[in-house]
Amino acid sequence: MTKFKPLRELPAAPKFQKGDVLVIFGELFGGGYVNGLIEEAKNHDMQIIYSTVGRRDAATGELRPLNTEELAEKGHDIVNIPLEAGFDLTPSQSGNSPSDQLKGLKLKEWATAKLDWEQVAQSQESGHADFKARAQTWADEIRKLVPRDKNVVIAHTMAGGVPRAKIMMPAMNRVFKGFGDRFASSEEFWQSDLGRLCDKSFMEVTAETFSVLLEVTKNMRDDMKSAGGSVAYTAYGYHGTEILIDEKYTWQSFAPYLQGFAKMKLEEIATQAFDDGISACVFNAPEILTNSSGVFSGIEIPLYMLLFALEKENQEGHLDAILEKAWSHFKADIDKTEAKAYFNKFFTTDVIQQWSDYKGWPQHNGPAQMEMIKTTSAETLGWHLNEKNPASTFLSEIVFKSCGKIMLAEASRVRAPVWWIGHDAVAKAIQ
Ligand SMILES: NC(=O)c1ccc[n+]([C@@H]2O[C@H](COP(=O)([O-])OP(=O)(O)OC[C@H]3O[C@@H](n4cnc5c(N)ncnc54)[C@H](O)[C@@H]3O)[C@@H](O)[C@H]2O)c1
Repeated sequence: MTKFKPLRELPAAPKFQKGDVLVIFGELFGGGYVNGLIEEAKNHDMQIIYSTVGRRDAATGELRPLNTEELAEKGHDIVNIPLEAGFDLTPSQSGNSPSDQLKGLKLKEWATAKLDWEQVAQSQESGHADFKARAQTWADEIRKLVPRDKNVVIAHTMAGGVPRAKIMMPAMNRVFKGFGDRFASSEEFWQSDLGRLCDKSFMEVTAETFSVLLEVTKNMRDDMKSAGGSVAYTAYGYHGTEILIDEKYTWQSFAPYLQGFAKMKLEEIATQAFDDGISACVFNAPEILTNSSGVFSGIEIPLYMLLFALEKENQEGHLDAILEKAWSHFKADIDKTEAKAYFNKFFTTDVIQQWSDYKGWPQHNGPAQMEMIKTTSAETLGWHLNEKNPASTFLSEIVFKSCGKIMLAEASRVRAPVWWIGHDAVAKAIQ
């Protein structure tokens, strides 16, 4: 388990300038974390090189690059080599992918479904080799595009790997969102064959892709070093966040976060690379709402606490406009002091406190905890003037922009392989 290391002092301004390059290893989506890093790189006149995970052909299911239409929609140049990772659709030697094995299963069978693990292992091996080959082709392309004597930051964005089988999303929804009669134990899920498959798949997409990235860019790294340039790597982790609870920045985490096991592996990979002299850093970033985090019920609750961190760090009134805009999402009768007391009470109740165990992270869910998250999530959504335009969208943007500033600055002189960006750092990084 990595030692908790919160970034208390903001890193010095990045040394990057025109001619330096930010390369995205993953695909850019609206509202995603990497938007912040891109914005900050543009602020430093850096060139941005974008990538894609590719698309699956509707008829054959084959992975393919983006077509002309999809490329035009993106609105920027892309190194068009599909970087989708994982093995859920990769056939075994007998032609069955893990997703094929799950075909036809009914939701009620999620806990008892059985997989042929030998075939799964074959799919995993072949999927890994296939991803590595595509990543190598991608790296060779990047090497041609990047000036050798400049500074390059490669941003790993990848996380995911939910097997694409019909049974999977409803089963995961039960685990991540179910409460009352619909509660499903994440521990039971994790021990089932479906859970074991998710574990392997998350490891492959969320963690092993970072290892592969380091490996396929080795030649470029060596080349650039000898020509006076440099390569640094950033990755997005999640391992809980410090938020302001009862006036003190305190670590807490969203649960159940089953991807957490893979995120710990990602930390290990970065730590090993850093020890080997590579500038690699995983930034454990706060909970925000993105395309990928919608599955986690109540993930916005810790994000609301940013309102109070912003207030605390607003010593010279420089955050007044942001705070006003953030609070303007709520109905006029929502009192700030009462709202603060409400959230403080939520995070300090015995139920939620039991789910704030750093050493036991990532923790499995429990019925009382899921119920409380669900109730609080619904109540606080009801505080909004327009539930379709929640404060959490605005707050997410503040978080990813601040994280972008912090990450680019740290990438110019990586001091540690794993940092936690808490709400204090987010609020301090806004200028
Ligand atoms: N949203 C949060 O609350 C949060 C918190 C901390 C860290 N993060 C991390 O930030 C990173 C970006 O996520 P985001 O929340 O901004 O959402 P996002 O949807 O914008 O980004 C997800 C990324 O994962 C990539 N991806 C998805 N499936 C993949 C696959 N099979 N193979 C290869 N790449 C795949 C996508 O291309 C995309 O770049 C992720 O690593 C995520 O775990 C998110």
